[in-house]
Amino acid sequence: MSLTDTVSPLHALSSRRSMKFLRAPAPKPDELEQILQAAMSAPDHGALRPWRFKIIRGENIAKLADMALDAVKRSGDPRMTPEKEKSVREWMASVPLFLALAAKIEDGKIQEQEQILAAGTAVMNILNAVHMLGYGAFWSTGLGTYVEEVQEKLGFDSLDHRFLGFLAIGTPGCEVPKIERPDFRKFTSEWTGV
Ligand SMILES: Cc1cc2nc3c(=O)[nH]c(=O)nc-3n(C[C@H](O)[C@H](O)[C@H](O)COP(=O)(O)O)c2cc1C
Repeated sequence: MSLTDTVSPLHALSSRRSMKFLRAPAPKPDELEQILQAAMSAPDHGALRPWRFKIIRGENIAKLADMALDAVKRSGDPRMTPEKEKSVREWMASVPLFLALAAKIEDGKIQEQEQILAAGTAVMNILNAVHMLGYGAFWSTGLGTYVEEVQEKLGFDSLDHRFLGFLAIGTPGCEVPKIERPDFRKFTSEWTGV
């Protein structure tokens, strides 16, 4: 049963929140297909389909941790202390599924910014679909997203891909706490002409 069987789709959208600490089970294979298919409904100027995803699960998550953490350490990032490495490894070991996210940029009349935005909206559809199916997710750019070696080793050629980080996906490790969201009026005004 999905969340939208019991609450309105709008309520489902506004009750989404990111959950970092996740455990098994991950969405089942048919659910993952629905989640990824939801990404295909993202708005997309020029129908370029710029979004790219790599599924990382099972024993490949430990390989991802080794690859990314080694690359981050080699890059000399002073924030990657032994304590930080330990906590990242523990976190990753409990997450059952990662998606690596990228935008493949095509030269031409569609601005790069628009292609990255289209990929971002595809990721948003994934976040919402995960939530609606009763799972949790967390978008992170913490794991070597800005270290070129990491994106190359994930198969996102840096010549034409912008690496957008990772989604951790799984079952929330605790009940999802309610969160107060800001009032939209603080961010919205009416334009009435010059
Ligand atoms: C592109 C992107 C990258 C992010 N990277 C990180 C990150 O590396 N570390 C982190 O703590 N939060 C990161 N966040 C924020 C979380 O994914 C999450 O949105 C935030 O904790 C707020 O939770 P909410 O989505 O429930 O409002 C990122 C968000 C976006 C959109």
